[in-house]
Amino acid sequence: MTLTIGCIGCGNMGGAMLSGLARHGGYDLCGYNRSPERMQPLEQQGVHVLKSPLAVAQAADLVLVAVKPYQVEAVLREVRPALNRDKVVVSIAAGIRRQRLAAFTDNACPVVRCMPNTPALVGKGLFALCLEDPTLTAAHKQVVRDVFAVLGLCIDMPESKFTAFSALIGAGPAYVFAMMQGLAQAGVTLGFQHAEAHAMVAALFDGCAAMAASGTKHFMQLRDDVCSPAGLTIAGVNVLDRAGLTGLLVSAVLAADARGRDMEKE
Ligand SMILES: NC(=O)c1ccc[n+]([C@@H]2O[C@H](COP(=O)([O-])OP(=O)(O)OC[C@H]3O[C@@H](n4cnc5c(N)ncnc54)[C@H](OP(=O)(O)O)[C@@H]3O)[C@@H](O)[C@H]2O)c1
Repeated sequence: MTLTIGCIGCGNMGGAMLSGLARHGGYDLCGYNRSPERMQPLEQQGVHVLKSPLAVAQAADLVLVAVKPYQVEAVLREVRPALNRDKVVVSIAAGIRRQRLAAFTDNACPVVRCMPNTPALVGKGLFALCLEDPTLTAAHKQVVRDVFAVLGLCIDMPESKFTAFSALIGAGPAYVFAMMQGLAQAGVTLGFQHAEAHAMVAALFDGCAAMAASGTKHFMQLRDDVCSPAGLTIAGVNVLDRAGLTGLLVSAVLAADARGRDMEKE
């Protein structure tokens, strides 16, 4: 039987997830968004546009909740009458713990907490999945993993590591884009056009990411492979080492992690 996946809140993340699943095919897809115009491009991709969050929860086997964190409680309470043990709710809301999600549904169905990062918007997301709800069956877990594998790389993660994951991978695009901005700026300084520098730097990161993902060499080895003795690269790399770039990145992630832990207490 074809799995029905419904999404409540089809903005940036929800829309990107439905769109990615529609491109892949093989699922019945439905969704509801407060502003109807956001549903138009999704409808053209074959997503059934429903009239309310409750209608989505009634129709779907897997209910994705992709509204802003402060809207999650109201949405889950609204859809509560449609939930039962045969359905699974997946929330991607930042900072809302699994037990709170379960409480919002009166423990009516298994709940999965998921943390994506923004490359999900282009089908290259990294998704942490907390599959610790004891009411999830092995079959439920497999369905959730299979669905998110369509959208990017997904990894099982205990909830105790979600803040660390957020500090490293959720926030990660900001660190990467900061480095990209610096290199593009250097390109412009050397006389390249802005668009040219932007495109070249994007291609540079894409190529490096592919090399890193091939996984045959450590990052330090990949770095050293570029540095010929007495060459120009080692001259540049020495500047980064003197400035402590590696240590700075570690400090940035630890600061984000500390802030995330403070936010959990607020
Ligand atoms: N973006 C990220 O980098 C990122 C990363 C990790 C996690 N997340 C999580 O992803 C979630 C969504 O973020 P986003 O960036 O996609 O936000 P977004 O673009 O604002 O999307 C949220 C959507 O939910 C809709 N909505 C609000 N209340 C609704 C309701 N009662 N019923 C149906 N639709 C409703 C909004 O409709 P309107 O168009 O009417 O406002 C909006 O289109 C958040 O919980 C966030 O924590 C985001």
